[in-house]
Amino acid sequence: MHIHRLEKIWLVFGCVMLAVFLVIIGISAFASGNQPPSDATLIDPTQVDQTKPFDKPGLKKIDDNRYEAVMVSQAFQFTPQDMVIKKGATVDFLVTSKDVVHGFEIVKTNVNMMVVPGHINSIEYTFKKAGDYLIVCNEYCGSGHHMMSTKIKVVE
Ligand code: CUA
Repeated sequence: MHIHRLEKIWLVFGCVMLAVFLVIIGISAFASGNQPPSDATLIDPTQVDQTKPFDKPGLKKIDDNRYEAVMVSQAFQFTPQDMVIKKGATVDFLVTSKDVVHGFEIVKTNVNMMVVPGHINSIEYTFKKAGDYLIVCNEYCGSGHHMMSTKIKVVE
């Protein structure tokens, strides 16, 4: 079979680019520890207030540099409001919804997930800079959607 020289060049170029993309994904997943949000754990959305750990939503300190934020979304607020953590700490966010699909975006970071009722949606993030971080709902969830937010204060 005869393959034209230009086609050969494009075939090699395509294969090399595929390899480059796979290497980049591998490095970001394994070396940088990037991972997509998980929603593998299920929960009964009508029993959120009675189901651990969502019966007591809030920020828990695991150790000096690690927190767990157990959060409930409902139209049109996040619980808890206004968390304070130390700079450099990693927070494991566990978020669920009591009603409809909400969003969970920490503004100016790459944290952005859908909060799906019936699922425990989780993601972790390390706060390397001090300051106020706004968390907003970015999925339209009703008439009060634009007011649905909370805040994390990262202190030195
Ligand atoms: Cu909740 Cu928009």
